[in-house]
Amino acid sequence: MKWAVIATWKMALDGTEKAAEILRMGGTAADAACEGVGMVEDEPSFHSVGYGGRPDKNGRVKLDGGFMDGDTLHFGAVASIEGFRSPVRIARSLIKGDANNFLCAQGAEEYAERNGFEKRDNLTEEAREIYEQEKERIQKLSAYDGHDTVCFLALDENGTLCAATSTSGLFMKENGRIGDTPVPGNGFYADSAVGCAAATGMGEEIMKGALSYAAVMYMSMGYSAMKAAQKAVDDLEKKLIERNGYANPMSLIAMDRNGAWGVGTNVDFPFCIADELHETELMIAKKHDGMTIIEAYENGD
Ligand code: GLY
Repeated sequence: MKWAVIATWKMALDGTEKAAEILRMGGTAADAACEGVGMVEDEPSFHSVGYGGRPDKNGRVKLDGGFMDGDTLHFGAVASIEGFRSPVRIARSLIKGDANNFLCAQGAEEYAERNGFEKRDNLTEEAREIYEQEKERIQKLSAYDGHDTVCFLALDENGTLCAATSTSGLFMKENGRIGDTPVPGNGFYADSAVGCAAATGMGEEIMKGALSYAAVMYMSMGYSAMKAAQKAVDDLEKKLIERNGYANPMSLIAMDRNGAWGVGTNVDFPFCIADELHETELMIAKKHDGMTIIEAYENGD
């Protein structure tokens, strides 16, 4: 495959089309992945990413984002950053240099300000109202309540693989809580010689298995992207159930260095794909009797 893109959730559909357009015109995997994520960050009707993202326990929208270049293995990441338009673009800019690649909170905000990144109050009126209504009621947090992280994986015609992620994390999270999304190897990983992967779901669960790195490692052992993604999720889910009696939701997208994609999940999980041979399409992965079934997403909601 000359180029390919895969992204998490239905909310990534327009971004996938945009990423596909960039790759079709010979653009880079980095631009495709970050522009795809950036479109989701800008859309206030998506409640788990960027503008319109759900606030933490103090009613503040604090965002996480990550980016990795599979050619160099350089990554950039920001965590718990407030008041800026696009965490993924800030994360991408941090891949330069061998140090200071992962910044959090005030340090990330100072860096973003110093480097002229666009500011934005990401707390929408709708999100503020929902926070006011729910703050007394919510006891147990679920990463899937607000449809979670946007992740894009892209392959360009030069053979470069990139991964990009962005989320507002759990609704009503503790101030300073950081999930898997900005953490390399957990929320994302890319190695152009092998493949790439990115995760969505309960960050605390995903980080128990370094899920994205696990999938890339399985690809390096000869598993297809599909088998690698499913094995990474299934292995971790099994281990968590053995140790704790349950496993929280987690889903994984993967792509090998030839643009073949795969998905592993323990819940129903919509995702988007496009490549040189296929128009942008919305699919869904479902778990049934221990098997992952992938089909076209028919439900119009
Ligand atoms: N997967 C996103 C989070 O747990 O924050």
